[in-house]
Amino acid sequence: MELAALPIRAADPEDNPSTPEKIELGRLLFFDPILSGTRTVACATCHHPRHGWADGRSTPIGVGGRGIGPERLPVDTRGIDPLPRNSPGLLNVAFNGLVSGSAYEPKKAPMFWDARESGLEAQVFHPIRSRAEMRGDTGPEAEAPADTARRVESFPEYRRRFAEAFGEGDDGRVTAKTLAAAIAAFERSLIGKDAPFDRFLRGENAAMTTQQVRGMKRFEKAGCVHCHGGPMFSDFKLHFIAVTGTDEDDRLPMRTPTLRNLRRTAPYLHHGRMRSLEEVLAFYEQLMDAAAEVLDGGAETDPPFDPALKHLRLEAGDFDDVLAFLETLNDEVYDQRVPSAVPSGLKVGGE
Ligand code: HEC
Ligand code: HEC
Repeated sequence: MELAALPIRAADPEDNPSTPEKIELGRLLFFDPILSGTRTVACATCHHPRHGWADGRSTPIGVGGRGIGPERLPVDTRGIDPLPRNSPGLLNVAFNGLVSGSAYEPKKAPMFWDARESGLEAQVFHPIRSRAEMRGDTGPEAEAPADTARRVESFPEYRRRFAEAFGEGDDGRVTAKTLAAAIAAFERSLIGKDAPFDRFLRGENAAMTTQQVRGMKRFEKAGCVHCHGGPMFSDFKLHFIAVTGTDEDDRLPMRTPTLRNLRRTAPYLHHGRMRSLEEVLAFYEQLMDAAAEVLDGGAETDPPFDPALKHLRLEAGDFDDVLAFLETLNDEVYDQRVPSAVPSGLKVGGE
């Protein structure tokens, strides 16, 4: 798969065109813990701009925790199962599903490590319904989206802003649907399209150093592009690459994650157990040998190893150059604005 620069803007779904009013409303909702049944957890608790819109933790703590990022501690999480997966960064999530040369539909954009949901609008209800993430024991799961909309609707400022964003009358009421639409529009505005790599591909030769250009060639030669190609460095397909661990999750094929903006989103992989990109490269170097043995030797694993792993050609001598290249995929000039207050009057970004 060819590497490519990001397009300048992301597509909106037909039924949810972005407007400045909608985006700003979505930002307030994203940072407002009123979205959680317990009124303590905001989307930003696990997706904070400081941490590349992720949380810098191996796995997150939702209800019953306190603090942001690596400092967040469990305070009262009794009876709540720990969350098994690493929080992904949301910068450029608007481009999920975008691969070179084919049309992409925002409604079908794959969401989650295992791509079990499609589209940003539909994704919003998952954390709201999840007991461990935002609902706690405050009501039945099926009612959570409507309950959340009712909590939001009780604030005059939200009622006014929803009417501004969606129109007067019934269209502009606070419902689960309009709530999700505003949050999705906000997420679609989180774009970092001017990483040194993008500028280099658009013709700015000085945007990448000689070592970084060499790293790009090594990255291609090492076979990474079979899965991490295209403008998002992802084919958005599921692959089993035998990331080891102890959970059921570790035996599932996962969606190729983007390699953009990884500087702030460590630790890595679906279980968040690799602390650095060096560690990930060392994992691939070992995987190369294991994969050759399994795939050439006809041995069987359950689930089967991804055949694309046959193309891996990564040597320890390549690490420095590849790491230098991965650095060029960070766009540090991204939107990191945190509202100074949210309409519920609760603590911005949660407890
Ligand atoms: C307690 C932490 C937590 C909270 C709160 C939370 N998330 Fe997440 N988010 C996660 C984790 C973990 C995943 C990955 C889960 C998986 O793959 O199964 C995720 C995945 C996502 C994704 C998919 C990204 C991708 O590329 O696949 C989006 C979008 C997202 N969250 C948005 C939100 C929004 C919007 C809210 C608030 C309504 C929110 N999150 C609240 C932890 C959280
Ligand atoms: C067969 C497809 C495939 C190939 C080839 C491949 N990857 Fe991956 N990559 C994946 C998948 C799938 C994951 C997520 C696995 C998981 O978490 O269980 C991943 C995860 C990663 C991550 C972690 C990203 C994050 O946000 O946690 C990095 C970094 C990475 N790959 C780099 C590389 C490099 C460098 C190469 C080449 C040496 C490479 N990959 C080759 C499919 C592939």
